[in-house]
Amino acid sequence: MAKKEIIESILIPEDKLLKRVAELGEEINRDFEGEEVLLVGLLKGSVIFLSDLARKIKLPCMLDFMSVTSYGNDIESSGEVRFLKDLDSDINGKNVIIVEDIIDTGLTLREVIKVLKARNPKTLKVCTLLNKVSRRLVDVEVDYNGFDIPDAFVVGYGLDYAQKYRNLNYIGILKLIDE
Ligand code: IMP
Ligand code: MG
Repeated sequence: MAKKEIIESILIPEDKLLKRVAELGEEINRDFEGEEVLLVGLLKGSVIFLSDLARKIKLPCMLDFMSVTSYGNDIESSGEVRFLKDLDSDINGKNVIIVEDIIDTGLTLREVIKVLKARNPKTLKVCTLLNKVSRRLVDVEVDYNGFDIPDAFVVGYGLDYAQKYRNLNYIGILKLIDE
């Protein structure tokens, strides 16, 4: 049966997102005072968050991107991670901050951390906009966390369902209903 997609409710409105992103930027400014940072965005979900966050960072700052995907359908990840695009830059000796849209099971991030750690960055931190704590299957250390959210499928502000809804300026809860 065909499913209809509806935004059931707004979980985090734009003003709250922007306020929290500014706070995360300030935390990073404080923690890395006098240093340079490299933001590593995980495509594509992190791009909206990363572009707002980067503009709150007052340190010398570089941007790079990698693309990973987990096998599975649109709503549930299978836990197997596939690397689609690597970084352009060498992270050896750099202060690397992985910027992620959402941590769900933690499986994606665990693989990314493993790969990046092996390249000997000076420091490696994790910054996520959203954190679905109750869904965690593997432990990952989160250094900068925007919001803990309940176990619901969310879209907007970079997050997608079947590549749509990334352009919403808020985080909304998506429901699929039978037509
Ligand atoms: P994890 O490997 O289970 O932690 O999954 C992380 C990835 O799954 C995120 O980077 C998202 O791309 C995707 N994801 C997990 N939960 C959601 C959600 O509620 N909405 C949209 N994407 C999600
Ligand atoms: Mg993602």
